[in-house]
Amino acid sequence: MASGKGEFLWGAASAAYQVEGGWEADGKGLSKWDIYTNRDHVTVPTTGKQETGNVAINQYSRDQYLKDIVLMRELGLNAYRFSISWPRILPEGTGRVNQAGIDYYSRLVDDLIANGIKPVVTLYHWDFPWALHEKGGFHNRAVIDWFRAYAGVVFRALGDRVDSFITMNEPFFDLFFMDVIADNVRNQRQPMDITPAQWRAQVPALHNLYLASAAAVGEFRAVGRPGMIGIALPLSPTIPFDEGKADDVAAARTWDTFFNRWPLDAALAGTYADDVVATLKKLAPAFSVSDADRAALAANRVDFVGVNFYSPAYCRRNDARPLGVEWGMNPDPVPAFNGPVRPDALYGLLMRIHNQYGNLPILITENGAGFGPADEVMADGIVKDPLRADYIRRHTDAVLRARRDGADVRGYMEWCLFDNFEWFRGYDTRFGMVHVDFATQKRTPKQSYAAYRDIIAKARA
Ligand code: NOJ
Repeated sequence: MASGKGEFLWGAASAAYQVEGGWEADGKGLSKWDIYTNRDHVTVPTTGKQETGNVAINQYSRDQYLKDIVLMRELGLNAYRFSISWPRILPEGTGRVNQAGIDYYSRLVDDLIANGIKPVVTLYHWDFPWALHEKGGFHNRAVIDWFRAYAGVVFRALGDRVDSFITMNEPFFDLFFMDVIADNVRNQRQPMDITPAQWRAQVPALHNLYLASAAAVGEFRAVGRPGMIGIALPLSPTIPFDEGKADDVAAARTWDTFFNRWPLDAALAGTYADDVVATLKKLAPAFSVSDADRAALAANRVDFVGVNFYSPAYCRRNDARPLGVEWGMNPDPVPAFNGPVRPDALYGLLMRIHNQYGNLPILITENGAGFGPADEVMADGIVKDPLRADYIRRHTDAVLRARRDGADVRGYMEWCLFDNFEWFRGYDTRFGMVHVDFATQKRTPKQSYAAYRDIIAKARA
């Protein structure tokens, strides 16, 4: 990644399952998402539709992604964050390597570099190999070795050309949301009816995930390629819903400890503070962290933190919810899918990392918004999305302000360039700066695309 004084990375981000398609192509194995969507027929709770990432936006096709790279260039991007499908590389999750999978990513890396776009590679963005999911997934501590071995294959295949790796993407939402929602749907329960018992079971799994991430950091150093490795965390500064209520203030503090401090401490500082462990014990009384695990985390801290920021989290006391906290309320008049629009909270978060985590290098690995049909109006061959354009302007301003004030921010990856498969929210939930007609794969730049192009050009002027 660029050094502090190097060129700032202006990019966009994506994830394999959301964009590639080619779910059975060229020897790829199945991921848990292939199973959720094709076997379990998990529906999109909001629309009742059954959708899959089987085709998505067809970027497994080189013809398609080369056209998409042209749009990246015209936008002025000098970086692109994408993820690797683990079962495309190791169809069973461990052991046998699928050379066709390596070849696909190797060509993509070359094609990006040939176009002046730096690849930023995420090893794991939620499409966990089904074969290993059946063996317990992150609940099985063997995942530490499985992931380390997979990471080693990727570092050796791509590490001569890729110098920015991300181990995991948004671990919390992978394990505490997507997997739980999938279970609920399979068991014909309300998808979002997440019980404290379900979360209790996920606490040790998420701990294993941080250990697996640390193992991949260790492997990266052992393989000895130049570059930096980080983790992409979902981070949401917490705000008491009613500042005047002591219960809401306490709820915000609890949620911050659980949601932000746990991953930041584990991955950046390699520690588990007493109050973090105490909070986790409230959810999962049997949870503890061994000295060996603490040592493994401390020895393999990340080189940079990937910040996925969408919104802060308003919190209030609600004893029916896990940890007694209700969070995620959105009081905005046109609510964005991922929470209230508060760019100041991003500025505060970046300064917090600067002040509390040793000024660790930061890459904004995701930031963006979707507001629904009101902000996706097609007219005269362009999609008008003024709210998204405004969101991007205000958040990039906040990023550049934090950078001026000393935070070591190395780049900004907007989520996302193209509309795509938004997990359990399906294809109707659009986040892209380029509209995609999913039936024809036609791309149409939106107003936000032009806005981001202008932001990048102005920053470079
Ligand atoms: C977080 C996830 O990493 C990404 O996969 C998702 O599409 C965006 N946020 C938007 O919700």
